[in-house]
Amino acid sequence: MNKFYITTPIYYPSGRFHIGTAYTEVLADMMKRYHVLKGEKCFMLTGTDEHGQKIENKAKDSNMNPKEYVDLQSKKAKELWSKMKIDYDKYIRTTDDYHVKAVQKIFERFLEQEDIYKGEYEGWYCEPCESYFTETQLVNGNCPDCGRPVKKMKEEAYFFKMSKYVDRLLKYYDEHPDFIKPNYRKQEMINNFIKPGLEDLCVTRTTFDWGIPVLSDSKHVIYVWLDALTNYITALGYESDDDRLLNEFWPADVQIVGKDIARFHLIYWPIFLMALDLPLPKTIYAHNWVTMKDGKMSKSKGNVIYPEQLIERYGLDATKYYLIREVPISSDGIFTPEDFVKRYNSDLCNDLGNLLNRTVAMCNKYFDGKVPEYNGLKNEADLSLENIAKSTIEEYEKAMNNFEFASSLQIIWKLVSRTNKYIDETEPWKLAKEIEEDSEKEKLESVIYHLIANLKEIAILIRPLMKDTSKRILNQLGIRESVEWSDLNEYNELEDIKVIEKGQPLFLRVDENEEIEYIKELMKS
Ligand code: MSP
Repeated sequence: MNKFYITTPIYYPSGRFHIGTAYTEVLADMMKRYHVLKGEKCFMLTGTDEHGQKIENKAKDSNMNPKEYVDLQSKKAKELWSKMKIDYDKYIRTTDDYHVKAVQKIFERFLEQEDIYKGEYEGWYCEPCESYFTETQLVNGNCPDCGRPVKKMKEEAYFFKMSKYVDRLLKYYDEHPDFIKPNYRKQEMINNFIKPGLEDLCVTRTTFDWGIPVLSDSKHVIYVWLDALTNYITALGYESDDDRLLNEFWPADVQIVGKDIARFHLIYWPIFLMALDLPLPKTIYAHNWVTMKDGKMSKSKGNVIYPEQLIERYGLDATKYYLIREVPISSDGIFTPEDFVKRYNSDLCNDLGNLLNRTVAMCNKYFDGKVPEYNGLKNEADLSLENIAKSTIEEYEKAMNNFEFASSLQIIWKLVSRTNKYIDETEPWKLAKEIEEDSEKEKLESVIYHLIANLKEIAILIRPLMKDTSKRILNQLGIRESVEWSDLNEYNELEDIKVIEKGQPLFLRVDENEEIEYIKELMKS
């Protein structure tokens, strides 16, 4: 059986997660469910990144000690993922004892190997990003990542010898074209970070306490990124008594991260793995962002939207559909209330919802709900529809395997539109009027059969993202809901199916203007 290990970043538990943060998780969940559908043994990891100065400060602001604070926040994160039905297999917290111990061992090993040495660090420090920058990396004197002011700081510190591994890393990039996705990020890494000269990385801090202490020098705590990145292996039991999961699932098949943390995952993480003599993940996919018309989402701009707010009003599947449909592989997606409502009404209510409604109604009207058997192709339109249904599966698979998630939905919706058009072309209501003639009856049977077969295919293809909608479609069609990928091969073999008598709409049409206003209000709150 094929195995599939997928990871998301571990999130800073430092506030409420907006739809942008939830995007990474929805993407990974969709990917996992796609591989589950294909019959693979999957393991998905997520969690929280709980150490560092930023968390220490946040806890102080809330009058809590850091551990109390992260306990509360990680509970909230889990509650959100549960509401969003994110199907992860393990939730790691970097304050978990097994992780802390493993990170300490990793650090000592790096010291022994002389990958880490002691020195003194002086540089420009961005507190919120917990990163040091050199003079030349600053943008207008501010942090190049978040744009906020930086402070000049000096401290005794340990350093990781990045320079030792740079050539190996570049060679690895070249020899493994699937390692970085989308491909253009490889050049970004080389031009922005490697070519200017990759400096040794400062991997300890003495200016605060909330971190994992270095075993052999406890006044230092381990830099939060060294601590956090290793979660992907410690979660599987690396440096513990039980490393069965590690043996089974490492190297990861795909690690999904946002573009802002691509640098850490595409440069430092592979170098740490090389130093540990572990194989590198097959692919690291650095996705784009969900942004707003006026740029990044932020409370101060009054443009934040939270997933719960959309789920409550429009449902989980509609929320997930929008998120994945709107962020293409090559650029950021912009959330607008107008687009959200338009997609809801047009893609979900009109295109998909009506297709199901019309099909169930016609099957009831013309055949008392009993789906006719496949009787061969009765006209040009049938042939063309069947070909498109077949090519859709191939195109969808190709898009999913290439991490083109928005395209995979476009491909499904092309089939939805084409199937709706087929109804208009074949005019079943006319065929029904002329049903006395045998040939017309056969044509009508063929039309209804093809509609049901296409809807079944659509229900299977949307399953990784919209499980509930997929089940509801199958229920209305009278098809068992536990479909598998291999059921896609049964296009001509549907037998003994009876659709339900009266189908409920999948999505209820909403008033466009009212809902746009409603979402705008949410953004202000
Ligand atoms: N803790 C680090 C990750 C450590 S992984 C070893 C971190 N956490 S985070 O909470 O700030 O971000 C988590 C994920 O959310 C990142 O992948 C980030 O890119 C993603 N997103 C945050 N805002 C986003 C959008 N507006 N749009 C899409 N993804 C966004 O970074």
